[in-house]
Amino acid sequence: MRIYVADTEDEMAYHAAGVISDRLIKYPDTTLGLATGGTMIGPYRYLVQMYERGIISFKSVVTFNLDEYVGIEASHPASFHHFMYEHLFEHIDILPQNVHIPDGMANDIQAECKRYDCAIKEHGGIDLQILGIGLNGHIGFNEPGTPFGTTTHVVDLTETTRAANARFFGSVEDVPKQAVTMGIKNIMQSRSIILMASGEAKADIIAKALTGPVTQRVPASVLQLHPQLTVILDRQAASSMPKDYFDCSFVA
Ligand code: F6R
Repeated sequence: MRIYVADTEDEMAYHAAGVISDRLIKYPDTTLGLATGGTMIGPYRYLVQMYERGIISFKSVVTFNLDEYVGIEASHPASFHHFMYEHLFEHIDILPQNVHIPDGMANDIQAECKRYDCAIKEHGGIDLQILGIGLNGHIGFNEPGTPFGTTTHVVDLTETTRAANARFFGSVEDVPKQAVTMGIKNIMQSRSIILMASGEAKADIIAKALTGPVTQRVPASVLQLHPQLTVILDRQAASSMPKDYFDCSFVA
């Protein structure tokens, strides 16, 4: 695991965009796993800027988003489809056929989960998976207790997660109760992973996930077992890490 601690959230976002763009420059046909949420807005803004300046192109990039709510239209302003187009896809040269987001409106949602797993396999798997972390340690929408062996599946969202995401819907009652998410197995099968977190509210869960026991109660703790994990935090999110942790760890 490599950890980079940035002074500010903006610097965290810039560094993450830098790691992603380095990869796209070296390997323009990268398959990216993408996340949504507040943490991703900054990195996507920097990626758009790099594209506008001609530094990177997404013409040969394939993307797979981690998750989508069940039962809301892609056009709904709080859907993850909408988020991705608003913050990234609308502003870059990605080909529409190369964008993959689970269909939360599918009639047969179990078949949709299978289709999604197959699509990831057919594209040769994910090269670089970008992750945020929920206050309860979720990655994607894999809530505490999710077995590590799961692939794409339907999940009942916890009250913590619905409350945290109420800001995108206006009220907690409007937040869907279910989502489709890639499973922990899909995430762990990615060839490399970037985990990002900012702000004091994430400090405790970051410390638990990165230095506590690997347990299904903290889904992100499984990332300790990934051989190519880069963690990018701001100072606040890193503030509960054990004091001596960085003595022998790589901090850029
Ligand atoms: C969203 C996702 C979630 C978020 C997490 C953090 O696609 O997969 O795991 O990354 O809930 O969300 P923010 O960044 O809004 O705190």
